[in-house]
Amino acid sequence: MKYEFPVTLNPNPGKKPSSEGLRFGTVFTDHMFTMDYDEGIGWHDGKIVPYGPISLDPAACCLHYGQEMFEGLKAYKTESGRVQLFRPYMNAKRTNRTNDRLCIPEIDEDLFVDAIKALVKVDQDWIPKGEGTALYIRPFIFATEPFLGVRQSKQYKFMVILSPVGPYFVNGLAPTKMYVEDVYVRAVKGGTGEAKCAGNYGGSLKAQEIAHQKGYEQILWLDGIHQKYIEEIGAANAFFVIGDEVVTSELNGSILPGITRDSIIALCKYKGYKVSERKISIDELEDAYKKGELREMFASGTAAIVSPVGELLYKGDVMVINNNEIGPVAKEMYDTIYGIQTGKIEDFMGWTEPVE
Ligand code: PLP
Ligand code: COI
Repeated sequence: MKYEFPVTLNPNPGKKPSSEGLRFGTVFTDHMFTMDYDEGIGWHDGKIVPYGPISLDPAACCLHYGQEMFEGLKAYKTESGRVQLFRPYMNAKRTNRTNDRLCIPEIDEDLFVDAIKALVKVDQDWIPKGEGTALYIRPFIFATEPFLGVRQSKQYKFMVILSPVGPYFVNGLAPTKMYVEDVYVRAVKGGTGEAKCAGNYGGSLKAQEIAHQKGYEQILWLDGIHQKYIEEIGAANAFFVIGDEVVTSELNGSILPGITRDSIIALCKYKGYKVSERKISIDELEDAYKKGELREMFASGTAAIVSPVGELLYKGDVMVINNNEIGPVAKEMYDTIYGIQTGKIEDFMGWTEPVE
């Protein structure tokens, strides 16, 4: 089924930023999508309206108990002018897995994707063109019922906002530095680590702040029980090239199942790499490093795309990876994935979805 929504155009459109030096998530487009949910009615009143502040009852559940979820995907414009999304139904499916975990009502996958398409279509002139840029799409749902008891809300709002962005890591493809966190933990099996909810990020800020103070951009999280096995990066999944094996941590219930991660695994298989999803301990990593077998590390995510990691700090020991340069596997994955996303490479995996 195809959903359609009324559009109220913004009478005061904003100035589009230049693609040069675009940062991540600082500029927003002219319009946004909003839709409400009420118990007994379901999702209703989806519409596109001028971007702007919203009003919320101070007792809205989301403000007190964090019943909120979000997603992230991107829109691209190819040389021929086709506007396309990357695997948006994967985001729709993950939304419903997160919703289920947070007791937020399910949302029809076509409704989710059609709302995004309709909004991107209205603001498609905001899609930037430079290398590493895209129109970032942020769908999110939050509980709006004014009620202070602890239970799931009976009312919600689903919104989508858009932001023309550059690479998440300001230096683009220059390797980043990661701090292996050994005090705080991000998630444990049975918690909300594999859901995409605000609380996972709020709880990670303290560790990230400490890492920043030490000159490291992001955290590499270890498992929440033994603090031994690698989980993921603050806003991305982690890949390693150890010898001739491309490795990423297996999905264990506390790691976010990244869509870029899934795409890299599929591409590696397609290209004939030996690729494993398995447990990988920080000791194994240090060992491989000492033996000269840790060839590459990279982050994968919608915002991060594929981003090389040049340095790890664990308990005072520094590991410099691939001479702090991007390695061949990371480069190939970046070129292929970003190439497919932007239409520079033929979509031989069938991953793009036109916005028509
Ligand atoms: N892990 C975390 C914690 C993230 O925030 C993200 C970003 O969305 C990812 C992994 C990568 O997921 P995806 O590739 O679906 O963007
Ligand atoms: C994304 O890559 O879409 C993310 O959600 C990362 C974000 C937390 C900045």
